[in-house]
Amino acid sequence: MSARVFLVGAGPGDPDLLTIKAHRLLQSADVILHDSLVDPRILSLAADHAELVDVGKRCGKHSATQTTINELLVNYARTGQIIVRLKGGDPMIFGRATEEMESLQAAKIDCEIIPGITAATAAAASLQRSLTQRGIARSLHFLAGHGAEGGLPAHDWVALTRAGGTLVVYMGSQTVAGLASHLIEAGMNPAMPAIAVENASLPEQNITSATISTLPRQLGRPSGPTILLIGAAMASEEEFAVTAAQLMVG
Ligand SMILES: C[S@@+](CC[C@H](N)C(=O)[O-])C[C@H]1O[C@@H](n2cnc3c(N)ncnc32)[C@H](O)[C@@H]1O
Repeated sequence: MSARVFLVGAGPGDPDLLTIKAHRLLQSADVILHDSLVDPRILSLAADHAELVDVGKRCGKHSATQTTINELLVNYARTGQIIVRLKGGDPMIFGRATEEMESLQAAKIDCEIIPGITAATAAAASLQRSLTQRGIARSLHFLAGHGAEGGLPAHDWVALTRAGGTLVVYMGSQTVAGLASHLIEAGMNPAMPAIAVENASLPEQNITSATISTLPRQLGRPSGPTILLIGAAMASEEEFAVTAAQLMVG
């Protein structure tokens, strides 16, 4: 391995869901710059000599600014040690990996990306519902529920609703009311299954099964990271025969 800097996916929380490569790198890293969301059991895999630096990112908010994180990464990389930048889930999904890669490139420092299990697939595994389903959900859309400007980003709600696939919303627990009303206004059936999974893969996991019209009320204000899954493929087996056909658009 020529790279000395690794952007590593820590997965959704359960240490058993780390890749073998991530595990190996955690054991050999001299410095680990990690998000606050990363489970302590994962950090405990680090070598005794490793320096652990909490860069404070939490659910899209962060105490260190992204610029500070980029600078820290470059400065540590210049020491020639093995640096792991450990990010929740997969680094390439809502993880601001591009900014970190660009800072390293500008400083002529190589890096390698180690993918991780993203919250969407961890939640689907917990629910035992496939995100895609033949004839029911032919596409899968990952959306940010919270944008750089603050609040719900302006997605093309009509196009998303017409596509009829499964919508997975990251960082959406605080904007769920707006999300639901935009989707219903765009033509989504108010009875469309909508499920929130808080702390997917962790012992404190909490599942709220609702419809798109009832989810805002049922969800309340979860304290842990929460992902929303919306679409006909999220209907339970009992509901399935009835709802799947009724809910399909077009
Ligand atoms: C900034 S995004 C990072 C996503 C991450 N890169 C990934 O691939 O999962 C943070 C959001 O991911 C979701 N998330 C991360 N871990 C989660 C978990 N264990 N359970 C549910 N949602 C999670 C939440 O929607 C949270 O607000």
